Amino acid sequence: MTPDESAETRHRGRSSRADFTIDQDWSAYNAEEHAIWRTLFRRQETLLRGRACDEFLAGVAALGVAADAIPDFRMLNSVLERRTRWSIVAVPGLVPDAIFFEHLANRRFPSTCFIRRRDQLDYLQEPDVFHDLFGHVPMLTNPVFADYMQAYGEGGLKALRLGALERLARLYWYTVEFGLIETTAGMRIYGSGIVSSKGESVYCLEDPRPNRLGFDLLRIMRTRYRIDDFQETYFVIRGFEELFEATRPDFTPYYRALQRLRDLQPSQIEAGDRVLHRGSPG
Ligand code: PHE
Ligand code: FE
Repeated sequence: MTPDESAETRHRGRSSRADFTIDQDWSAYNAEEHAIWRTLFRRQETLLRGRACDEFLAGVAALGVAADAIPDFRMLNSVLERRTRWSIVAVPGLVPDAIFFEHLANRRFPSTCFIRRRDQLDYLQEPDVFHDLFGHVPMLTNPVFADYMQAYGEGGLKALRLGALERLARLYWYTVEFGLIETTAGMRIYGSGIVSSKGESVYCLEDPRPNRLGFDLLRIMRTRYRIDDFQETYFVIRGFEELFEATRPDFTPYYRALQRLRDLQPSQIEAGDRVLHRGSPG
């Protein structure tokens, strides 16, 4: 076994624990893996100035996440625990829904620890440590967003019981992963799927093709999404308080009401939408 293979196996290895966690084993990363992180970090750092929201950029700074190396979860946890009582746990990849929600409900963010290969810099189908850490963890330093993520975990466990997971997953997709926010300085990014993507961090704000619509909880839970291309519609919140307050009520009656409404296509605009930008076919 070459040193590369051993690092790869360690960071993607299966877990023998019931909660699917593994150890990050930070010392097992090799120079090439740290160099891939550096490349990814540097280009997003430049692109996100003036594009990511202040809360995200402040989170990156507070965590001490930097270009030099893949962060050590233990260092991040000492900051996170103090700020919002969250922690990061290492997992080998996607985990079952119930396990994922259980972690979030207990303020633990499951993060992968392997890093993509150099030929996958621009696009990777599954989450890796760059997406999970750089994309998700900075927002967890924000107290309101941190509470939203815990509430989402609790809501996920409930949605599983009610058979409403597909609805709730759309909310995660259009907020946590691909959310935009209106600020006094202009529209900004907070979604982790965007901040960790070179192409989409420019496209979501500057390209005329996608729709940009005001956040609307029930509308989002009716809207399908694409996992294989840039989004055709982004939903824009006015602030994290709006997001937290809109999602505070019990969703049980919402799920019932949604059963009588048809799904909407990712590109569709509906009567009643707050249209900030109508996408033009390009
Ligand atoms: N209030 C939601 C429910 O009862 C839980 C939730 C909170 C879901 C935040 C998503 C986001 O299901
Ligand atoms: Fe993600």
